[in-house]
Amino acid sequence: MRFSSSFLALLLMVAAPALAQSRQDILLTSDWKFTKGDVAGAAQPGFQDAKWQTVRVPHDWAIYGPFSSTNDLQQVKIEQNNEKQATTKAGRTGGLPFIGTGWYRRRLAVPGFGPGKRAELVFDGAMSNAHVFVNGKEVGYWPYGYNSFHFDITPFLSPGGGANTLAVRLENQPEASRWYPGAGLYRNVHLVVTDEVHIPVWGTYVTTPTITADFAKVKLRTAVAGATAAQSLRLDTEIRDAAGTVVATTSTPLAATDGQQFEQNLVVPQPRLWSPETPVLYTATSKLYAGSVLKDEYQTRFGIRSFTFEANKGFSLNGQPRRFRGVCNHHDLGPLGAAINPAALRRQLTLLKDLGADAIRTTHNMPAPELVSLADEMGFMLIVESFDEWKKPKVKNGYSQYFDEWSERDVVNMVHRDRNHPSVIMWSIGNEVPDQWAPGGTKIARRLQDIVHREDPTRPVTAGMDQFDAVVGNGFAALLDVPGFNYKPHRYPEAYTKLPQALMLGSETASTVSSRGVYKFPVVTAKDKKYPDNQSSSYDLEACNWSQTPDEEFAAQDALGYLMGEFVWTGFDYLGEPTPYDEAWPSHSSYFGIMDLAGLPKDRFYLYRSRWNPTAATLHLLPHWTWPGREGQTTPVFCYTNYPSAELFVNGVSQGRQTKSSSDKPQTQYRLMWNEVKYAPGSLKVVAYDAQGKAVAEEEVRTAGKPHHIKLVTDRPSLAADGQDLAYVTVRVEDAQGNLCPEASNEVQFKVTGAGQFRAAANGNAASLELFHEPRMKAFQGQLVAIVQAADKAGPVQLQATGKGLKSASVTLQTTAAK
Ligand code: GAL
Repeated sequence: MRFSSSFLALLLMVAAPALAQSRQDILLTSDWKFTKGDVAGAAQPGFQDAKWQTVRVPHDWAIYGPFSSTNDLQQVKIEQNNEKQATTKAGRTGGLPFIGTGWYRRRLAVPGFGPGKRAELVFDGAMSNAHVFVNGKEVGYWPYGYNSFHFDITPFLSPGGGANTLAVRLENQPEASRWYPGAGLYRNVHLVVTDEVHIPVWGTYVTTPTITADFAKVKLRTAVAGATAAQSLRLDTEIRDAAGTVVATTSTPLAATDGQQFEQNLVVPQPRLWSPETPVLYTATSKLYAGSVLKDEYQTRFGIRSFTFEANKGFSLNGQPRRFRGVCNHHDLGPLGAAINPAALRRQLTLLKDLGADAIRTTHNMPAPELVSLADEMGFMLIVESFDEWKKPKVKNGYSQYFDEWSERDVVNMVHRDRNHPSVIMWSIGNEVPDQWAPGGTKIARRLQDIVHREDPTRPVTAGMDQFDAVVGNGFAALLDVPGFNYKPHRYPEAYTKLPQALMLGSETASTVSSRGVYKFPVVTAKDKKYPDNQSSSYDLEACNWSQTPDEEFAAQDALGYLMGEFVWTGFDYLGEPTPYDEAWPSHSSYFGIMDLAGLPKDRFYLYRSRWNPTAATLHLLPHWTWPGREGQTTPVFCYTNYPSAELFVNGVSQGRQTKSSSDKPQTQYRLMWNEVKYAPGSLKVVAYDAQGKAVAEEEVRTAGKPHHIKLVTDRPSLAADGQDLAYVTVRVEDAQGNLCPEASNEVQFKVTGAGQFRAAANGNAASLELFHEPRMKAFQGQLVAIVQAADKAGPVQLQATGKGLKSASVTLQTTAAK
């Protein structure tokens, strides 16, 4: 039932005097003690932890290194990479010391705790096998390191809530992962204090069953816990738009027949629809009353948008057909490791926006909640993924050991936590799980999909499949709402004829490998190509035996109307999986990224940008043009652009005009290529022409002289003084004229003074063993990135960068008081 707004206003006024602080959500970030190794008695309140390290959570104990080839050394045959025999893989999980046990301890004050109060701990993720103790007693266990979980700690707290001890034991097993998992309390821990009568964790579920231009129906289901039958409960809900204006209200009594759940139906007039381009959000604020006493207040942020997945047509958002311009990303934040930081995530999403990406697949596990919230705010569609393996293992000690007992709980938590987010468009129940072809695998897929549907019937389920013949033959692919194929552009037509859905997704594509700024000659298309320097060529023609260059996927997507777009492997390089150098230490981070581990764009960034970002002009030349010793030698030049044609000049001499054209070679459709250019030092210039043949833009690369000075370019001039915020400062080694010295490898030293600290550096060199947190690092191909972290107090903060033989540089940032 809906009440008129004036009646509701009256109700709210009556209720107002009873307002009390009904719910507290406290982030447990500071005052943690940490030690590595197992320690007897560490859960006990009286345990002396004074000698342990003081850390701030989120914390990744392994990212500080040192790197070693013996950290999680794996002797494996990677079946999904078509390997025929086992070999030793040193950098597979990043070469960092994340194996073993770690303990965290902290005093736990629970404000306002007492009779009639409840307290809950919410872990956004803990890596891994978390045993949580309060006052020496175990309150719960959760094995899967990527999932969020929560425990009621009410019965374990001391009366009055003053002096409690929280202890967490975590343990990472060897050979449990295919990439760097991180270690420790790498995501936030929340203490949630409520009244006994309360809305439980993730206790609301909002859907928008009808959306028209005039109105949207909003259905809000709110669970309630802790109430006795005698209490007369009422839920008052108001929805505010992004400007904070109340746009809908309702008040609902809980009837005896409602069970422990309110259902409210509200109408938002003239809804503003959420999309990647218009990430408009609404907030429902619900107040739970027992009689006239306010018991709880709960906010649910959501968006109003509709989507369809239709046979032969593919995907539409708000009635507009579109294709996913997606990337897959692992969870690590490069030099910060797995420790979550909202500023680091925001920077990644900012870069992805410029790329023109509109979607992310959170491979191959549940993301940090901050990523999902930022995707809502900044406009990205998400496939939230759960598992990399089910019952049949990929790695010796992986999730398969927990699958039977935990998979339902893990899926339920995933869906409950994230189902109110407009960014979440699909759920993925797995990635290339070996159960694709194992007996019983289809049944597991059905079971998992059913669990997801039960918890959230509004979104389709997908999975990333690689075993094409098996899944098309055994019913696995046919049962999924949306079949997702990994690296199968040449087989899409066959899947289309054999599967009932008549639509499909490139759930994982390309896996092209390259090292930023590295170019190899002669320029050839190659699979699994290795070089003595452990780098891959940035001509973007090198892939793995199972994977492709970007253009091959583009061609398939452009030819086939039933495809729904692609998710490129990967947006950013990540720690671990250094294919094609899996056996070649010191390689320990990936080569797949469109951006490197420092977040610097590789050439491929511009290839995707030319296709995905329609609102910006892209005109990018490669390679660099500083090749002493290559004079007169063939040095192919590529241009990534969204202009249809362009003319290339070397020192003013035309090399001819190239136009994108269809041919057997997909590259010619998407790149402009001059394959016979002879290198001569000086100027390499491209002039782009629009469809009418008018010269409209140009780009020039010049041969660089000797390294002369450091140039610093910050991504942000000011930061919040919250002890967390980050500026990413790109460090360039330039010649006297300001040209990038594209092969420079000078070591740069950093010093941060004022209201901040040096946090980390990264250069994107997958074979460098330099430690990220040391205030010095070598430039890789002329560049690196230094990360400055704001202190808690506001003021100017200065980063100074020096290097032998280089004129030093500094940049001053302002930090301002956090809200
Ligand atoms: C896929 C897999 C990814 C990654 C990628 C590398 O098969 O799903 O996790 O390993 O290959 O190309």
